[in-house]
This record gives sequence, structure tokens and C-alpha cells, in this order.
Amino acid sequence: MSVNEQIILAKRPQGMPDESDFTFEEQPLPVPQAGEVLVRTVYLSVDPYMRGRMSDAKSYAKPYEVGEVIAGGAVGQVMESTDPTYREGDYVAGTWGWQRFAAVRTGTLRKVNPDLAPVSTALGVLGMTGLTAYFGLLDIGQPKEGETVVISGAAGAVGMIVGQIAKIKGTRVIGIAGSDEKTKYLTEKLGFDAAINYQTEDLASALAEACPNGVDVYFDNVGGEVSDAVLRLINKNARIPICGQIALYNLEKPDTGPRIQSLLLTNTALMKGFLVGDYANRYNEALHELAEWLRDGNIQYAEHIVDGFEKTIEAFLGLFSGENLGKQLVKVSEEQS
Ligand SMILES: NC(=O)c1ccc[n+]([C@@H]2O[C@H](COP(=O)([O-])OP(=O)(O)OC[C@H]3O[C@@H](n4cnc5c(N)ncnc54)[C@H](OP(=O)(O)O)[C@@H]3O)[C@@H](O)[C@H]2O)c1
Repeated sequence: MSVNEQIILAKRPQGMPDESDFTFEEQPLPVPQAGEVLVRTVYLSVDPYMRGRMSDAKSYAKPYEVGEVIAGGAVGQVMESTDPTYREGDYVAGTWGWQRFAAVRTGTLRKVNPDLAPVSTALGVLGMTGLTAYFGLLDIGQPKEGETVVISGAAGAVGMIVGQIAKIKGTRVIGIAGSDEKTKYLTEKLGFDAAINYQTEDLASALAEACPNGVDVYFDNVGGEVSDAVLRLINKNARIPICGQIALYNLEKPDTGPRIQSLLLTNTALMKGFLVGDYANRYNEALHELAEWLRDGNIQYAEHIVDGFEKTIEAFLGLFSGENLGKQLVKVSEEQS
């Protein structure tokens, strides 16, 4: 255990990334300085937004530098501490990213309570993706009882939580996802009212059938042609939280779709992009409510866990081919009591 292993951005991907865009490097185990802890990664997160940071195009998040460790969400256990408020064995969540060990400033960490839920949920339903679902749907979507809510990327980490919160709010919920296994899971396990496989069904007619009263809220995780089809059905005063556009992340040229301004104007609809980080001062309120819903069985979550640090890139690439049902994670080491 004197060696750390890190995944480094070797070059900026063109189009769909592949293994050659990354290298695995070994480094000596870091030594925590004053105010830091040494953490052993237990789970790390792979997320679609990371693709954006691999490019140097201007965006809301700083691009990764070539030669730098891929930063991102991770949960780990403290091995050594210079801060009396953190003890060996404590579970923490932070953004030290794709590496087996890290020396991390405690000010950037949040403690994770293993008695509340499995610690992996700090990267999903009780972490960034759960918070994204919560704020995007409730703050922008503002679902009202009896309305119709459509969600793209519905069987992913954000999407499946959006749908269940929308059910709590008494709406009719339609999910769009990329396989029959996923659509079945949404309707049979999570109680969605209908789910559509956009890979095999005629989306326009399936949507028309599933949404006889039109669409009041469209929670957009994917963009592209899926969104073009949903937007044709929006109702007067529809709300459209723009959460993600994964269908576009690997395109090398900008994609031009239908010009939708008239549709928004004539329906007096609101389309609004949002970033979960902008809600940071309300995280505690949301985490409290998400944890209650989880405890009371009002929401469930799924995780797609790949075992082994060496499979991190495969897990990341799988997001773009829809390998995951629920939150995609990599298990790096065992939890130790
Ligand atoms: N705004 C924010 O603050 C914020 C925060 C977190 C995430 N996001 C965004 O939210 C979206 C969902 O994130 P997540 O972490 O929950 O990921 P996820 O949904 O768990 O995983 C990505 C899913 O996207 C679908 N997908 C991949 N390529 C697609 C394509 N070309 N067309 C349609 N669907 C495609 C796949 O499912 P299928 O099998 O269904 O195709 C895949 O499983 C992403 O766009 C992400 O960037 C935004």
C-alpha cells in the first residue's frame, strides 16, 4: 500500500472517447499535510458531465488539463488524519476523483453516515444526482397534481429519481429510456405510468398515446431527437428543466434541430437550464427530504456497480451506450470496519 494509482487525461478525446485518451499512472502514496486526511477510495463516480470537462471548449466547469487526474465524486474511508474532527475509518465524500488514494483538505469533504444508507448513495440518490433531480424538478418543473411529466434518460441516476418525486407530487409520469429492461423497471418497479423505449418504438406515436393530455413538464436529460419529439406535445404554460444533453456530448459538429421559439412563445412555456451546484446553499434541506423519502419507501434507487479500479474507463464509456440502470459507480476497495 505504498503506491497510489491514478487515471490521467492523456489527450483530449475527439468524438466518442476511448481507452487511448487515458493513462494509468503510479505515484507514491500521498502524505497528508496539516488540515488534510489521507483517504482510500471505496467508490468512485463516473458521470456524463466529465465528457464536457475533457474538452477545452468554454463551459460552466473548468476543463481538465491534459496530464491531470480526472477529478470527480468519490466516497472513501479516512486512513490517516491531521484534523481532530476526522478519525481513521470515517467515511467521507469529496471530489478527489479517479485515484485509489488521495490527500484531501477536510474543508472540501462531507462526512457520510453509514447507518443512514449504504455509503455509495452519497454519490447517487443522497448525492449529486439525487440533488439534481430534486432541484430541477421541484424548482423549475414545479409539478402539480394531475399534470403529465415526461422524463428522458429516465432509467439513469437523475431520471429515475425525478420520476419518483413526480409521482410523490401526484402527477402522471412517462419515462423514455433505451431498452425494454429499463422501461419494464420503470413501470413495474418504480410505478411510472408508462415508459417508452426510444430505440425500438416510434417515439412520436408512442408519446401521443402515453400523453393524451399533452405534456406539462418535460425534464430533459438527453436533448437531440428525443427532445424534439417531446417538445411537439407541450401544453400551455409547460415547464422544461434542461438538465443534460448527453445525445450531443460526443458530436464533433454543432447539431441544429427544429427552431422551437415559436412553440415556447405560443404555449407561454418556460425552458430553463440549471446547474445543481447553484443550489449548494439548499443541499441540506434537499438531502433531508430525500433521505426521508428513501427511509419511508417513497423512493427507491438502483446502482450499476462495476468492480475494480481498472474498469473505470469502461464504466465511463458505458454511460454513452446506456449500459447502466441507475447510478453508474466503480467499486475500488472494500469497506473496512
Ligand atoms: N444540470 C446539472 O447540474 C446536472 C447534474 C447531473 C447530471 N446532469 C445531466 O443529466 C443527464 C443524466 O445524468 P446521469 O448522471 O443521471 O446519467 P445517467 O442517466 O445515469 O446515464 C446516462 C444515460 O444516458 C442515456 N444516453 C446515452 N446516450 C444517449 C443518447 N445519445 N440519446 C439518449 N439517451 C442517451 C443512456 O440511457 P439509455 O439506455 O436510456 O439511452 C445512459 O444510461 C446527463 O445529461 C448529465 O450530463 C446534469
